[in-house]
Amino acid sequence: MDGNGRWAKERGLPRSAGHQAGADTAQDIVTSCRKLNISVLTLYAFSMENWTRPKEEVQFLFDLLIRFLRREQKKLVDNSIRLNVIGDWQKFSFPVRKAIGQTLERTAHCDQMTLNLALNYSGREEILKACRSLAASGVPEEEITEEAFRGHLYTAGQPDPDLIIRTSGELRLSNYLIFQAAYSEFYFTKTLWPDFSEQELHAALEDYRQRSRRFGGIE
Ligand code: IPE
Ligand code: MG
Repeated sequence: MDGNGRWAKERGLPRSAGHQAGADTAQDIVTSCRKLNISVLTLYAFSMENWTRPKEEVQFLFDLLIRFLRREQKKLVDNSIRLNVIGDWQKFSFPVRKAIGQTLERTAHCDQMTLNLALNYSGREEILKACRSLAASGVPEEEITEEAFRGHLYTAGQPDPDLIIRTSGELRLSNYLIFQAAYSEFYFTKTLWPDFSEQELHAALEDYRQRSRRFGGIE
């Protein structure tokens, strides 16, 4: 979800206004994906690298996250959307952990869609964490299969992403789901995230539909 800052700058607004508008877009896109019967939606909300931003901006993003979760909770439950957090969120401040914990608990029984929120997420760190936990489990070398490895990722039990959308014209993955994205399709758009719409989501899905996924094979 990239481009919040530039969206605000274009309007002479503070970056926080861009993040606020971006959160509104995220809410709309969650609803759109549920309507489309998409089983898993992952939103890259805060990367491990985002800690390098000014502390006021980081603080704003976490306050916004709390508001987002409070506001979304009922909608998630009503639409049977289960929240799942991918990333290391155990070290967040108490109010943030509380809002996350409550939403996880209240949506735990929901089974129509999974909303993965990537928070304090790093794909490389996720891979290292999986290695550490495999090593700690004492699993014999020959049992370290792809399947066993996947079981130690944050996305254990979930399918790989079919489609990854990146907004704001950047053409890179930025440490996002780097293991899981091995055969994902990509959709890059210059649209800044606050301007991303249900209509453009449909366009991205239509584009995806036209592709031929061969997974290294031939047709
Ligand atoms: C994305 O927008 C959101 C977060 C990291 C939360 P940016 O803040 O990266 O927006 P730009 O790239 O400065 O426009
Ligand atoms: Mg950015």
